[in-house]
Amino acid sequence: MTETNELTSIKFWGHAFVSLTQGGQTLAIDPYYPAGEIPLSLEPTLVLVTHGHGDHLGEAVPLAKRAGCEILAITDLARYLHGEGAAVRTAHFGGKVAFPFGWVKIVPAIHSSTGPQGQYLGEPAGFLIQLFGRLFYHAGDTALFSDMALLKNEGPLHCAFLPIGGLYTMDPQDALEAVRLLSPAWVVPIHFNTFPQIAQDSASFSRLVEAETTSRALVMSPGEERML
Ligand code: NI
Ligand code: MN
Repeated sequence: MTETNELTSIKFWGHAFVSLTQGGQTLAIDPYYPAGEIPLSLEPTLVLVTHGHGDHLGEAVPLAKRAGCEILAITDLARYLHGEGAAVRTAHFGGKVAFPFGWVKIVPAIHSSTGPQGQYLGEPAGFLIQLFGRLFYHAGDTALFSDMALLKNEGPLHCAFLPIGGLYTMDPQDALEAVRLLSPAWVVPIHFNTFPQIAQDSASFSRLVEAETTSRALVMSPGEERML
């Protein structure tokens, strides 16, 4: 693994689906894509799934099979994915899995995790990702919890993807507190406006982040790609 000062291409596909591309590696996280079939232009080298709910598991299995790559998930979910014919990598809370780009640490999320038939799939997770020396945090679906502050013990966070939709996850007020705990250079709000139940004003969240924290907010539209 080499460290680099190169920027990472970040694409927000919608909802909680984000891809990170750098150095020939593409990580696709929570590939639920309501817009239709995931374009062939996305060729992940690793798919990551935070928990079993349909709006996160999404197209993970067909996408990974199509790309010929592995899926990283916490143990119980990984066992299910393996049963669906996917190649998997796995660890449990606190564990780091090494990859050519760095590592992924599986970290807690306060939520639940069930599969397409309502079956229990273990605990929901978030991912702390070290990509060529920089740290990214995808919180998955979670409520606010104070131990988020511990994540930056691994180093300063470059970018945090945080749910702000409320009802099922943190709302903007709790996500703002999460930003204070995490102190990322950048925060990208996710998991809002996909459905009427999670409608939120992301511009207002962005203004609050920039007024009340040292972080910068980046509100991305579905399909938008940025170098960060
Ligand atoms: Ni969920
Ligand atoms: Mn969700």
